[in-house]
Amino acid sequence: MRIAVCLALFTLTTAMNDDDFAFAADDLPPPNYDEAKVPAYTLPDPLKCADGKQVDDDKAWRAKRRPELLELYRTEMFGRAPTKPAELSFEVENVDPKALGGLATRKEVVILVAPDAPPIRMVLYVPNAAKKPVPVFLGMNFDGNHTIDADPGITLVDAWTWDPKTKTESLVKADPAKRGASASRWQLPLVLGRGYAVATFPRSDVEPDYAEGWKHGLRGYYLAKSGRKDFKPDDWGCIAAWAWATSRAIDYLETDPDIEERQIAVHGHSRLGKTSLWTGATDGRARIVISNNSGEGGAAIARRKIGETTVVLNTRFPHWFCGNFKKYSEREADLPFDAHELVALSAPRPVYVASATLDTWADPRGEFLAALHAGPVYGLFGKAGVGVTDMPPAESPVGDFVAYHLRTGKHDITEYDWMQYLAFADRHFGKKK
Ligand code: GCU
Repeated sequence: MRIAVCLALFTLTTAMNDDDFAFAADDLPPPNYDEAKVPAYTLPDPLKCADGKQVDDDKAWRAKRRPELLELYRTEMFGRAPTKPAELSFEVENVDPKALGGLATRKEVVILVAPDAPPIRMVLYVPNAAKKPVPVFLGMNFDGNHTIDADPGITLVDAWTWDPKTKTESLVKADPAKRGASASRWQLPLVLGRGYAVATFPRSDVEPDYAEGWKHGLRGYYLAKSGRKDFKPDDWGCIAAWAWATSRAIDYLETDPDIEERQIAVHGHSRLGKTSLWTGATDGRARIVISNNSGEGGAAIARRKIGETTVVLNTRFPHWFCGNFKKYSEREADLPFDAHELVALSAPRPVYVASATLDTWADPRGEFLAALHAGPVYGLFGKAGVGVTDMPPAESPVGDFVAYHLRTGKHDITEYDWMQYLAFADRHFGKKK
């Protein structure tokens, strides 16, 4: 069957693009981008319990359906994480009250889940001009704290990386030339200027992002402690580990007198947007949840089979989800949930889902539909969802407690996205503009 697909691909070279070649190399079915070829599907009803009973108020959602759904997500997709560690400790270092030309106080916080565990090295900026305590945007970064801004005071740290060409891993020192390389994705002056603190730590401190990366991260640490050699089918995957580490960052933020602990907005782009949704589902202290271009395994409806699919996730990123998730490759219809329910697990807290027009791999329409169909759960709490039934055009944000926008452009997080998230946070945190 796969051989036939590959042969068909090679004979249809005129219709192929780089992605298709990559797919042939991976022995994966080529992606569908044609709305007309999306198979008919039925979305699971978020308000229908496993025993067939219908949920009709917030009490039943909280007491019965939500725990049941969360448990399904834990067992079948993200995996089970440890509880909050008793030995958790924090060390605040390298405080600069005049960072960024006096705009903010920068603190570096080392989070240790145990004295001998790999450290999570977080950087926190608190705006100097704002009245304390302040709300905070918390999210992981892809390539190191030093990439979020050109601030020369951010400590450069080592990270385990994988070279796909030589298929080797190595501990690499951060490159000073990459200071500020992702500044456009963080918009630090804008966010701080609006009175929000910014907290971030690198994904690789928790787990370097490749199949064997767990050996150098917290999953490896806990596996070794357990005395086992292999993960169980429902043990946490890398995304659950990233989300769990985000909860440990929240543990710190709750202790910092500069931070308003009831105003923590957790955000993430792409794979880190999948992570922010899972953080929202598992940690009620994430008072706002933002998923930017999170795609398959995040806000995109899996049953739509457009752009990325579960078999791609399981093949290219086998470490992201738990062992049980592998059985859903090419079997999206068998999933006992879909992305609208992942969004709804944060209800009634405000969730923002965002897409980009050129990000077809992440299925913008599927992301919108998840935001839309989370609505009935918010309805149980008397809160409005996206407030429309048709996908809005680009640059037309919609929604109240579930918000959505489509931005013109590529897979990215930009100033436009941040402007919407700031307005959303202002509105829900009751901040004056
Ligand atoms: C790949 C992957 C996506 C992911 C993205 C990212 O494109 O297929 O699932 O969201 O990387 O994290 O940038």
